[in-house]
Amino acid sequence: MTYRTILSTLVGAVLCGALITSANASEYMIVDGTIPASLTGKPGDPDAGKQTAIHRQKGNCLACHVMPVPEEQFHGEIGPDLSDVGSNYSEAELRLRLVDPKALNPDTIMPAFLKVPTSEVHKKFKGKTILSAQEVEDIVAYLMTLKGSYSQ
Ligand code: HEC
Repeated sequence: MTYRTILSTLVGAVLCGALITSANASEYMIVDGTIPASLTGKPGDPDAGKQTAIHRQKGNCLACHVMPVPEEQFHGEIGPDLSDVGSNYSEAELRLRLVDPKALNPDTIMPAFLKVPTSEVHKKFKGKTILSAQEVEDIVAYLMTLKGSYSQ
């Protein structure tokens, strides 16, 4: 390995670290119960969003919501059915719902998917968010495709 390649590898690693930090400590502006601007500037991918949403260690939305995902057996009913959320909410409204639902309802049990926990948490989770900014954008894009009734 030449000095040059070592150097560019190092620079790459540093840049990569910076990207991860900025994705986690995502900056956003709340306007009238919405986050109007994309968190990443990159369009969300609805297929990736669906996978993240139903993933039990990631979005885990099915723990609390019915969704039009017949291939998954267990759907929770603690939260509202999401089969038609794309008709009922705008992208900007859904973005805030995912980033920090407590901004809308301080008593909600729905997790804030892009908020760095402020209370004492295990050091494994310190400074970390449940999802990345792009994962939130992907889920928003997926939710926008849910425009119809569905019964399990
Ligand atoms: C621990 C349970 C829980 C989990 C997990 C959860 N939610 Fe929720 N969600 C709720 C509850 C309860 C509400 C009702 C509103 C409130 O509490 O403020 C809600 C409301 C919503 C709403 C507004 C729906 C409406 O019709 O008003 C959306 C959209 C939503 N959740 C999306 C999601 C998505 C997407 C995920 C996964 C990434 C998710 N939720 C994970 C509990 C949960």
